Amino acid sequence: MNISEIKQLVDEALKARERAYCPYSGFRVGACLVSKNGAHYLGCNIENAAYSPSNCAERTAVFKAVSEGEAEFTAIAIASDSENATYPCGVCRQVLAEFCGKDMPVICANRNGEYTLTTLGALLPEAFTKEDFINGI
Ligand code: THU
Repeated sequence: MNISEIKQLVDEALKARERAYCPYSGFRVGACLVSKNGAHYLGCNIENAAYSPSNCAERTAVFKAVSEGEAEFTAIAIASDSENATYPCGVCRQVLAEFCGKDMPVICANRNGEYTLTTLGALLPEAFTKEDFINGI
């Protein structure tokens, strides 16, 4: 992935953030997930009055994509309202690990589009995956 591709994904994540439904936290997050065939799935955080049913932007993007028949992904960008780069929460790291490889780039951006580039494996080392599950039964 080159810098212009990364910036494109960050821009799309920032745009997806505008759709956030976050009346409780007031913290908008957007994500842009790229499938192996090149399609871009956007997601935002969607909160709920009961709090725990709330969904993060990253999982919204993953669930949209998987429900449309996608199962392999090549990158994700995340952007929020923060002045710091926003990294996926632990639950989203686990959900990403179900469908994405350890080397998949994860682009974590702040509200100005400044980003850090890492990988899913760096964010969730020694993840519990379907390989562990299948080998254990
Ligand atoms: N949130 C995300 O959507 N993604 C993250 O990576 C971090 C947190 C959301 C969840 C909640 O709606 C709000 O940000 C505050 O935690």
